[in-house]
Amino acid sequence: FDPKQITIKEVGPRDGLQNESVFVPTADKIAWINQMSHTGLSYIEVTSFVHPKWIPALADAVEVAAGIERVPGVTYAALVPNAKGLERALTANIDEVSVFMSASETHNLKNINKTREETYPILAETTKAALAAGKSVRGYVSTVFGCPYEGAVAVDEVIRVTETLLEMGVQEISLGDTIGIAQPRQVQEVLEVLLRRFPADKLAMHFHDTRGMAMANVLVSLEMGMTTFDSSLGGLGGCPYAPGASGNIATDDLLYMLHGLGMQTGIDTDKLLEAARFIQGKMGRSLMSHSMQACQ
Ligand code: HMG
Ligand code: MG
Repeated sequence: FDPKQITIKEVGPRDGLQNESVFVPTADKIAWINQMSHTGLSYIEVTSFVHPKWIPALADAVEVAAGIERVPGVTYAALVPNAKGLERALTANIDEVSVFMSASETHNLKNINKTREETYPILAETTKAALAAGKSVRGYVSTVFGCPYEGAVAVDEVIRVTETLLEMGVQEISLGDTIGIAQPRQVQEVLEVLLRRFPADKLAMHFHDTRGMAMANVLVSLEMGMTTFDSSLGGLGGCPYAPGASGNIATDDLLYMLHGLGMQTGIDTDKLLEAARFIQGKMGRSLMSHSMQACQ
């Protein structure tokens, strides 16, 4: 690998905390995000403006987003499913809005209570309004490598959703292995098809580590030219509407490999591990990342 600049998008405060049974008090969330803001991370997904009934762990989204320190050079993002979510996100002056939907119909229905066809106009309206408000917009496509309800997902479905989101004005698509089912050969095959259609710099990889394949999947993605990866500090996380989903790939483990390969992330590993120990102290259990297990 040529040494390269890799962008890590920290999703722990959102994807990590959304499925934890412990409600982390708002002040602790804010303190943790502030700590991470001083590690060299350039992007933190801080919360989610979904219905609090669906994701009670992030019911304090407005307070968190409005309460954090805004460190120059760090983009503060949040999940936004619709106009109501955008209204809340704008109140809290979030920098970047992440819309989301699934490549598979059943997961989309279970996750956001709409068919894919019903979802498009909602996300188009949200994207348009967010861009008009001066925000950047990211889009997640879930179940890219498999659906907990439907099994295999055709790459054509992924292309259709990705293309539709990009046409709406979404600026980057994060390809979600929602249930951590992908393996390296499949990642290579899917990316080969997608990269014929979309430039690598429009795509990011979002691997969950349910079957321990996330790191291998990142390595293959790097070989294919991908440079943006989502991860969660300490391996926190899951998806409540995707049975079997475990945490995202751990940011600390990912850094260990990337720096070992001579790649640059701009992130200070020691400072990041300090932030991992802070949130571990609030979770009442050990974090699952290998780095945290090794450095207790
Ligand atoms: P719905 O019930 O169909 O919504 O939920 P609705 O538009 O019919 O509205 C019903 C009520 O909810 C109304 O209130 C709305 O105002 C309110 P009422 O008039 O009855 O009092 N409402 C809201 N309140 C607060 N914030 C909002 C909001 N929207 C409506 N944004 C909805 C539709 C999308 C809101 C719901 O299904 C939902 O919140 N789903 C959450 C799903 C979720 O967060 N899933 C996890 C994140 S996705 C993920 O983890 C995957 C990812 O990591 C990538 C990967 O791994 O693949 C991103
Ligand atoms: Mg996820």
